[in-house]
Amino acid sequence: MYKIRKAENLADKIFLMVVEAPRIAKHCEPGQFVIVKEDEVGERIPLTICDYDREEGTITIVFQIVGASSEKFSRLQAGDAFSDFVGPLGQPSEFIHEDLEKLKKEKILFVAGGVGTAPVYPQVKWLKEHGIDADVIVGAKTKSLLILEDEMRSVAGNLYITTDDGSYGAHGVVTKVIEDLVLNQGKKYDKCVAIGPMIMMKFACLTTQKLGIPTIISMNPIMVDGTGMCGACRLTVGDEIKFACVDGPEFDGHKINFDEAMKRQQMYKTEEGKAILRLHEGDTHHGGCGQCGGDK
Ligand code: NAD
Ligand code: FES
Repeated sequence: MYKIRKAENLADKIFLMVVEAPRIAKHCEPGQFVIVKEDEVGERIPLTICDYDREEGTITIVFQIVGASSEKFSRLQAGDAFSDFVGPLGQPSEFIHEDLEKLKKEKILFVAGGVGTAPVYPQVKWLKEHGIDADVIVGAKTKSLLILEDEMRSVAGNLYITTDDGSYGAHGVVTKVIEDLVLNQGKKYDKCVAIGPMIMMKFACLTTQKLGIPTIISMNPIMVDGTGMCGACRLTVGDEIKFACVDGPEFDGHKINFDEAMKRQQMYKTEEGKAILRLHEGDTHHGGCGQCGGDK
């Protein structure tokens, strides 16, 4: 069992939990995720790691209530436990493997949308710990839905907050701030990392493509079982077929077919949709498990 050390309601329907998972805390890197199950019969939920403390042996997760399972999660308190907490899964963020001296010369812009602020935080923190100050834009619908502001301020070089309704920070969506920084304030960025709802990542990529800034995004939202078996997170990256949970979740955003990914995500929600996908794509999954024969 994986004991919950802290449970906090961050905003409407958004919760943070610090969970005792020493083995994962020892090995995880920014960009990776865990699969969480409340009990033996519970649904598997893939969640990107929001923070980790190797000494304390804890992992921080942030989740939004989107269905029955996440609502059940939200009722858990400090002292309760998850039956399963598996990870670290997926590939770490690309910059973890880059030459540090080269990385220190780069100017990186992070764009975090809503709950996507949680997976952005460990990346900016990692960079700060390695002597790199990154600029961060955080967008939320309204002030009360803004999360992790203090945490992000403590690790970001410059933090730009924007709300759709103008209740806090700048007024408008994140893409407006990207354009303002580059076109009006003369900022130059070598790379952008944009994480948030699919529609935000799509438009952030359209904006950075126009501005010539290579951009990484996270396809966590289309993951279901998180093990390469269900086929839900199949996506087209350039002319290659990839699986977000095994090959990602982070990819070159300028190569992603977002419209196809969003359409597939909707279809996967119904049995009829799943049947159509099977018909068109075959019984696709990542394969490689060596047991089910699906990779033959
Ligand atoms: P939201 O709808 O409140 O949007 C957050 C911000 O994204 C907005 O404030 C705005 O600045 C920007 N945005 C939204 N639509 C945009 C558009 N068309 N153009 C430009 N900018 C736009 O976000 P939320 O409700 O907190 O997000 C929930 C979603 O985030 C869920 O669908 C979840 O799957 C996803 N999510 C993604 C990741 C990931 O790894 N990519 C991680 C956690 C959550
Ligand atoms: Fe099921 Fe990736 S989430 S195959």
